Amino acid sequence: MKLELSGVQVSYDGSRILREVSLSVSPGEVVCLMGRNGVGKTTTLRAITGLVRAESGSIKLGDVELTGMRPEERARAGLGFVPQGRDIFPNLTVWENLRIGAVAQGKKIHGELDRVLALFPVLKQMLQRKGGVLSGGQQQQLAIGRALLTNPRILLLDEPTEGIQPNIIDQIGDTIKRLSTHGLSGDGPEREQEINDAIRAIRREGQIGILLVEQYLDFCLEVGDAFHIMDRGSIVAHGPISELGDDIVRKHLTV
Ligand SMILES: Nc1ncnc2c1ncn2[C@@H]1O[C@H](COP(=O)(O)OP(=O)(O)OP(=O)(O)O)[C@@H](O)[C@H]1O
Ligand SMILES: [Mg+2]
Repeated sequence: MKLELSGVQVSYDGSRILREVSLSVSPGEVVCLMGRNGVGKTTTLRAITGLVRAESGSIKLGDVELTGMRPEERARAGLGFVPQGRDIFPNLTVWENLRIGAVAQGKKIHGELDRVLALFPVLKQMLQRKGGVLSGGQQQQLAIGRALLTNPRILLLDEPTEGIQPNIIDQIGDTIKRLSTHGLSGDGPEREQEINDAIRAIRREGQIGILLVEQYLDFCLEVGDAFHIMDRGSIVAHGPISELGDDIVRKHLTV
C-alpha cells in the first residue's frame, strides 16, 4: 500500500510548522526525509500517525484517507511508527516490549517473531532482560522489532541512527534495505532456514514501504531510494537518491 501526503499543513500554537508537505512512499521503497534540526521532520511523522492534527491536506494509505482517524486506527490500518528516542519501557522485559505494540492493537503474533529475531539476533539472547538495560543501539533494534510485529504496510522511522555506533548503524541499514525489498516474508537472507507453515500463512503479499527520517547523509545514500529535504516546514528538494548531490547537501543539510 502506498502512503501519500499532499498539501499537509500543521501549526503549533498558531505558528505554522508544516507548509504544503507532499510526498509518497511505495511498497518496497525507502524514502529518506532529511533536514536540519527543527525543520519539521518529526512533526511530519506525527501528522502521519495522527499524534498531531493536520489542519489541511490529505494523508492516504492506499485508498484510505487517514486524516480523520485516531492514532490507534491509523496504526491498525498499517502504520508502524518508531519514534525518535525509541520509547522503550525500561521495566518491562525485551519480550514484553516487543509484544506490546501488537497486543495493544489486538493483533496476534504468529511467525513474525522468528523473523524479527532473525533480523535482530542480539534480541534473542535478551528476551528476559529488562528493556532499560539494553544499549542505545539494542533499544533501537527492539523498537523497530516491536513495530514490525504489528505487521505494518508502512514503517516510519525517526532517526534510527541517533547516538549509536557505526557497526550497529550498518546492521540497521542492512535490515532496512532487506525489509523494504523482502518484507518480513521468507525471501530474506535466512532463505536456508526452515520457513514454517505459520510464516507461509501470513506471508506478506506486498512489501513494506519505509519513510526514514535521517540526518546522517551516508546512511541515506546507502539505504535510500529517494529523498525529500525539508527546510522550515517545506519540502525544498526531492528526487531519486542518485540525485542527492553536493550542491543540495551544502545548501540544505550542512550546519
Ligand atoms: N509540541 C510542540 N509545541 C510547539 N512547538 C513544537 C512542538 N513540537 C515541535 N515544535 C516545533 O516545531 C518545529 C519542528 O519540530 P520537529 O520536532 O518536527 O523538528 P525536527 O525536524 O524533527 O528536528 P530534529 O532534527 O531536531 O529532531 C520546531 O521549531 C519545534 O520547536
Ligand atoms: Mg525530530
